[in-house]
Amino acid sequence: MSRLVVVSNRVPLPDKAGNPPAGGLAVALHAALRERGGIWMGWSGKSTGEDEPGPLSIRENGAIQYALTDLTDRDVAEYYNGFANRVLWPICHSRIDLTEYARREMAGYFRVNRLFADRLVPLLRPDDVIWVHDYHLIPLAEELRRRGVRNRIGFFLHIPWPPADIFFSVPVYEAILRGLCAYDVVGFQTDYDVENFAGCLRREGVGEPLGGGRFRAFGRSFVAGDFPIGMETAEFAAIAAKSPDDRRIREMARSLGGRDLLIGVDRLDYSKGIPQRIEAYERFLRSAPEYMGKVIYLQVTPASRSEVPEYASMQETVASEAGRLNGALGTVDWVPMRYINRSIRRPVLAGLYRLAKVGLVTPLRDGMNLVAKEFVAAQDPEDPGVLVLSRFAGAARELDSALLINPHDAEGTAKAIQRALSMPLDERRERWDHMMKRLLSHDVVQWCADFMAHLEPPTHRFLPEPAP
Ligand code: F6P
Repeated sequence: MSRLVVVSNRVPLPDKAGNPPAGGLAVALHAALRERGGIWMGWSGKSTGEDEPGPLSIRENGAIQYALTDLTDRDVAEYYNGFANRVLWPICHSRIDLTEYARREMAGYFRVNRLFADRLVPLLRPDDVIWVHDYHLIPLAEELRRRGVRNRIGFFLHIPWPPADIFFSVPVYEAILRGLCAYDVVGFQTDYDVENFAGCLRREGVGEPLGGGRFRAFGRSFVAGDFPIGMETAEFAAIAAKSPDDRRIREMARSLGGRDLLIGVDRLDYSKGIPQRIEAYERFLRSAPEYMGKVIYLQVTPASRSEVPEYASMQETVASEAGRLNGALGTVDWVPMRYINRSIRRPVLAGLYRLAKVGLVTPLRDGMNLVAKEFVAAQDPEDPGVLVLSRFAGAARELDSALLINPHDAEGTAKAIQRALSMPLDERRERWDHMMKRLLSHDVVQWCADFMAHLEPPTHRFLPEPAP
């Protein structure tokens, strides 16, 4: 079996005992790396503070090598905080209004991709299979090809791919599109993303579908398809099932004082629709005052990308909206909303999901949104909570038994919250069963195997069955 080489902007490093960090993607990719042997390469998350990026640092853990590079302050400013998160992120989430395009930052993005290629080439063996993740590294395959790399290279985009008109507003869109077409397999989260990508090729007149998921563009052919990412469903459900014994969950349950819990868990990001969610919750309370004092909405929101101005201002907006809501509707013995700005460890999170009657996952746009899946997986099968889910999250393509809402429609979302809180047990169970079956049959291990089956060199894929 050929080695696997994973490349991503951030690398989830194992603890001292060699265990990967919690989370489906890290666990599944570590399992694949352990089985085949291989390398996980990426940015160390640090900057050197000097003019030159630091040397590649290699760390061994059994069959896996971690290859990490520090970047310069300028790299971080231009590649990560700049082009990746002020152009590609907003564009892919259909927010042209938030893009801040600067040629210098675009140059920094391509420069860091060249640096990654330069550092990866000496580590590669001819039959390694390379799997690149996410929008930070779209040009990497083309850079590797320029350096003579002939290996199979796959790419998975964790975020949405936008419609052609939106994508074409990036001044260097052609270089980005050509970069994607240098891979052998390009994976998207949903069929809508694949349609948008195909639309970009067609509208630009640079490529066409050949059928069966194959495309020809910029003089080469490759596969592009939807590979909706899954989670570690059974493991997470088992952790959640044990959570009622956890002291922290018992304390949380006690603090609710018999009130129903609604929960939202999101990285602080404008794509998550948190202010719109607070508005919808307020509308729900005002239109159904019998719930005043009977429900509590917990919003868990770790800060993120705080050096990007749009994120800093979102931080202020959410904090002030939460404060305004509590000031307007709270009483001396009840606050409608609890807002915390830090991350919560997965076992506790699993318990909080299970404690909640309603999961609010209402992004304005999202590649997949694994919180939606985690909320479902954590529920008690005998008495499951209800998921209120934005139709603009990739997860809605699979979890169509959730209460699907339009996050721009505060009244509609408010009604869905009320419906979720008053939904009869039979209906809750039926909806949950349907979603849980899907999550169990399409988990993250299956997702990884499916992508790898497409990426594997054809000779590996079509080996004849051994004779009986
Ligand atoms: O979902 C997209 C993504 O970039 C992931 O790759 C990443 O883990 C997450 O968002 C957090 O982003 P950042 O690494 O910028 O904090």
